[in-house]
Amino acid sequence: MAHPVTLIPGDGIGPEVTEAARKVIDATGVEIEWHVFQAGEEVLNRYGTTLPQETLDAIMRDRVALKGPISTPIGKGFRSVNVELRKHLDLYANFRPAKSIPGVNSRYENVDLIVIRENTEGLYSGLEHIVVPGVVESLRIITAKGSERILKFAFETARRYGRKKVTAVHKANILKMSDGLFLEIARQVARQYPDIEYEEAIVDATAMKLVMNPANFDVLVMENLFGDIISDLTSGLIGGLGMAPSANIGTDYAVFEAVHGSAPDIAGRGIANPTALILSGALMLRHLGEEDAAGQIEQAVHRVIAAGKTIPRDIGGTATTMEYTEAIIQALE
Ligand code: NAI
Repeated sequence: MAHPVTLIPGDGIGPEVTEAARKVIDATGVEIEWHVFQAGEEVLNRYGTTLPQETLDAIMRDRVALKGPISTPIGKGFRSVNVELRKHLDLYANFRPAKSIPGVNSRYENVDLIVIRENTEGLYSGLEHIVVPGVVESLRIITAKGSERILKFAFETARRYGRKKVTAVHKANILKMSDGLFLEIARQVARQYPDIEYEEAIVDATAMKLVMNPANFDVLVMENLFGDIISDLTSGLIGGLGMAPSANIGTDYAVFEAVHGSAPDIAGRGIANPTALILSGALMLRHLGEEDAAGQIEQAVHRVIAAGKTIPRDIGGTATTMEYTEAIIQALE
């Protein structure tokens, strides 16, 4: 039976990179029933919103979406579509693998990390108010329930991917109550997974150690703001945002997307690098139980980049988005 998937092309280079990902996924032979729905700046005039209800309904029907990047209009009072999706669909876990791709110029050759970021609370709860003129307070919400589910997600991910260690990243030396609670729950959850090594690391030291020796880490789990920053750092370790896939996962729904934005500076020119979205597509296939096809895509991407003949401009080649996509399809085995 075909898997139903909502496809959101998005803004800027979104339509180009989603088309590339769709072609590669279809070429694996896995049957997907694509339902194309719009969101983003482009639809704002027509629907009066960047996230039309029909798009949200489609994701809720299909339960899985592959999404292109979406521009966030500045100063128009609209919230980011990404934040709205995470909130509406309760996509509490942001899953970002960072794995070196041979042939991509980067500082290290053997990075293989998974960063798991809590997506719904922390400082990004959006609770801010003016205490008195000139003083603004932002609330950083850490709950036992939110911590428990993200920590369980981290340990389950470690098991599923055959990983050995989970590091809980925190700042409990200063944020004694909030991060203290996060660590207390982390220790309780860790006891339920005796097969996985557990360690704790302070966020600032973690940033330094990741830059100096990423092999110190395996799976890292943390609250929202720390995860936002550390996961961009780990993307930098493998050659930048253009190569980094991600998944936003909740109990009922999952949305897969590249880490990069809509790149308006190169939109419509057919030169965007679709690697991140193609690899996000592989994560989606794995989520749908299509492990073989997911592995095929990852290996094909690695083969084409290692060969170095047909690669996009941002990683040193001359290929267009579609020439590179065709090369990946040819390399599928
Ligand atoms: P960006 O990631 O779109 O672009 C930064 C730089 O990287 C640009 O020079 C761009 O050309 C390049 N780049 C990015 N992706 C590329 C790709 N696949 N191939 C080749 N080059 C690539 O970040 P920026 O400029 O800060 O944001 C642009 C818009 O995207 C904003 O409206 C922002 O809100 C939105 N955005 C959306 C995200 C999402 O939907 N998940 C994530 C990040 C930003």
